Amino acid sequence: MSTTLYERLGESAGIRDLVDAIVRRHLENPVIRKRYEPLAEEPERLESAARNLCDFLEEGSGGPATYQGRSMVETHRGMNVSGEEFLAALDDIVDAMQECDLDESTQKDILHIAYSLKPEIVRL
Ligand code: HEM
Repeated sequence: MSTTLYERLGESAGIRDLVDAIVRRHLENPVIRKRYEPLAEEPERLESAARNLCDFLEEGSGGPATYQGRSMVETHRGMNVSGEEFLAALDDIVDAMQECDLDESTQKDILHIAYSLKPEIVRL
């Protein structure tokens, strides 16, 4: 039987590690960190967004969680995220996946999914 993307991500614990690494990088990335400063000032909001990102990844990769956050369009509408900011976020995701030692095909699958969300995130 082939493994699901959820399994290749290391299930819930692996996804949590990945999300923590992504969030840490977003907070340090000079291109996008300003976007996350309001969240960083309210740790429970940051945790709620990180939790939702975990569930989003878990549900989307075939795991048992149910995403209860807002849709990508609803979440990012009004932010007017630029193409440059979107690429900066993808850079963070790639660096975080390398830090978490995900294999190359898993990294490609995640990058492909993340890139496909561009129309639901950029310039809304
Ligand atoms: C593939 C790329 C991205 C994905 C999958 C993604 C996903 C998400 C998810 C799941 C949430 C939590 C939603 C909720 O709690 O209801 C979120 C929140 C957020 N995202 Fe993104 N995002 C992406 C790119 C970006 C980019 C490029 C920016 C800006 C530079 C951005 C800025 C934010 C901010 C500021 C929040 C917090 C909103 C709030 O709670 O007020 N995101 N994102």
